Amino acid sequence: MENGIGFSKSGWDEIDSINFIDYGLFFVPERERQHEIICSAIPKTTSSTKIVDICCGDGLLDREILRRFPHHQLYLFNGSMAMLEKAKENLNEYIDRVTFTRFDLVKDDWRHFSWGVHAVVSSLAIHHLDDEGKKKLFRDLSSNLVSGGALIIADVVKPACDAGKEIAARDWDNAVYKRSMELLGNPDAYEYFKKLNWNMYSDPDPDEEDKPSTLFDQLKWLEEAGLVNIDVFWMKGGHAIFGGYKP
Ligand SMILES: C[S@@+](CC[C@H](N)C(=O)[O-])C[C@H]1O[C@@H](n2cnc3c(N)ncnc32)[C@H](O)[C@@H]1O
Repeated sequence: MENGIGFSKSGWDEIDSINFIDYGLFFVPERERQHEIICSAIPKTTSSTKIVDICCGDGLLDREILRRFPHHQLYLFNGSMAMLEKAKENLNEYIDRVTFTRFDLVKDDWRHFSWGVHAVVSSLAIHHLDDEGKKKLFRDLSSNLVSGGALIIADVVKPACDAGKEIAARDWDNAVYKRSMELLGNPDAYEYFKKLNWNMYSDPDPDEEDKPSTLFDQLKWLEEAGLVNIDVFWMKGGHAIFGGYKP
């Protein structure tokens, strides 16, 4: 099936995009809290700077960044037309500070910017790359950062042992169930989440198209990419927010 991204087959197609647009609020644990934490990890500055979002999706994180950082320009990259259209709609209020680019995460033809980057953020996308792909991506992104700039990643991570996998599977299910009950008053969104086998820890993908790496490995790769003050800012149900800063 044509994946709608039109680029490499990375385990994500336009049906996933529509499901994520409609159900992201339910499927992503503490989504608004995650956005708040990512924004808090971006170094504060009053000067006009440039922030890049790798696989921006429907732009909800970017709306929060644009609201909090009124001097920043955002450069958003995504492969899905449906996502880019939704992001344009969600960011209409800030459109003069946003540049959209359709890209393929797997390729490296987009990775060198002619200007210094204050921060690169990415949420729930880098797990589409394998270990070597992530290592190279971290190096390429780090090389574009200005001194003091940040690479902040939110993503699903590979549990290092069976106990970690069981905890991630259970906590992700519980978070989605709780959210469904809170927002809908019924478990419909949770039941749809289970029907789609969206929880990769309880319902592993037989094609192994998701390629999460352990958090520990990714922290090491950030260090190898030349970043310092590497830290984990939040974690729940197999989802983590982590990053580092350019010396
Ligand atoms: C789970 S969504 C996350 C969206 C957004 N970052 C968020 O957290 O709300 C994953 C995003 O990665 C994009 N994506 C997946 N594989 C890609 C690829 N190979 N090239 C470009 N974009 C890709 C999808 O289109 C989708 O927008």
